Amino acid sequence: MRAAKLQADPQNLLRWYDRHRRVLPWRLEAWRARAGHKADPYAVWLSEIMLQQTTVKTVGPYYAKFLTRWPTVQALAAAPLDDVLRAWAGLGYYARARNLHVCARAVVERHGGIFPRELDALRALPGIGEYTASAVGSIAFDLPAVPVDGNVERVVTRLFAVEEAMPAAKREIKRLAAALLPPHRSGDFAQGLMDLGATICSPKKPACALCPWSEPCVARARGDQETFPRKAPKREGKERYGAAFVALRADGCVLLRQRPEKGLLGSMTEVPGSDWAHDFDAASALEAAPRFRGKPQWRKLTGEVTHVFTHFPLVLTVFVAELPRGTPAPKGARWARRAGLADEALPTVMRKVLAHALD
Ligand code: ADE
Repeated sequence: MRAAKLQADPQNLLRWYDRHRRVLPWRLEAWRARAGHKADPYAVWLSEIMLQQTTVKTVGPYYAKFLTRWPTVQALAAAPLDDVLRAWAGLGYYARARNLHVCARAVVERHGGIFPRELDALRALPGIGEYTASAVGSIAFDLPAVPVDGNVERVVTRLFAVEEAMPAAKREIKRLAAALLPPHRSGDFAQGLMDLGATICSPKKPACALCPWSEPCVARARGDQETFPRKAPKREGKERYGAAFVALRADGCVLLRQRPEKGLLGSMTEVPGSDWAHDFDAASALEAAPRFRGKPQWRKLTGEVTHVFTHFPLVLTVFVAELPRGTPAPKGARWARRAGLADEALPTVMRKVLAHALD
C-alpha cells in the first residue's frame, strides 16, 4: 500500500514563526500582534520597497530614519524629492526612491492618503509590482496572497520537489504557495516563509532537523534537498555566428565533409561551413564556401538556424547552390545521396541546417 502523502500544515509554520521569527524593525512585537494589532500599511510598504534588492541588515537604520522624519504617507508625499533622495543615499537603486515619492503622492491623490486594501489597487500604484502588492496586502491587511521571492521559491520547490527548472517553475511555485495559505494570518504566513528560507531552508546545508515542515518535505525525504530549485542548464558564453553551405548536385547528392577529430562534434559529418565565431562577418561569408571549378551561384536562405550547445548558442546563415551532374567534390569533401542522409553521422545542428535547406 502506498503511504499517504503527508501534507505540509500551514499552522506548523505559524507556530514555528511565533517562536522563532526574526525580530525586525518593521514587525510588530509578538505581544502586539497577538493582541490583534495590525502593522501600519505605510510602514509595511516603506520596508518592502527598501527591502527590494537590499539586505535586512542594511535596511534597518534607513527604515527608522524615514519613519522618524516622515511618519505618514502624507508627510512623505509633501517632502521635496531632493530631501527623499538625500535620505535614501547609500541604499542604492535610486529609481526606487523616486518611485517611493511618486507612489506616496499617488496614495494621497488617488486614495486620500489611505493605502488601498485590494491587491489590484495596490498593484496599480507606481513602483508596486506583484511581489510588493502581495507583501503589503498580506502583511498589512491579511489579504490572501503569498509574496514569492527567492527564499520562498527555495522552500516551496523543496517541499514539493518541483522538478521544473527556474524560471519556468515560477507559475507552479506560486500556485503551490497559494494552496498552502492558511485561512487567517496570511501576513505572518508570508513572513514565516521568508524567515524559514532565510534561516533554516538555506541554499547549502539546510537545517532540516529544525524545520517545522521536515516531515512533509518531499526533497528532504529523498535526500536531494540541496538540488532545489532546479536550474535550466547554463547558456554559457556569448552567441557565435557562422555560415553553412548546402551544395546540391543535379543527381540528388549533397556535399558533406568530416569535422576534425579533435574538438566540438569531433569526427562527425557536416555540410561545409565557416568557423563559428563571436565576430563572424556575414558580409564575407562566401569566402568560406566550398570551391568548385565553375563558380556556382550561392543563394542565401531567409531565416537562420539556431542551436544551443552547452557552452554557447550558435546562429547559422545557410546558403544553397545547385551544381550540374558530374561536378567533382572539392578536396576533403564527398557527395552523399540525399536518400541516405538519415544514415549519416550528422549532429542535430547539421540536421537542422539540412532541413532548413531541403524541406
Ligand atoms: N524581505 C522582504 N520583505 C521582508 C519582510 N517583511 N521580512 C523579512 N524579509 C523580507
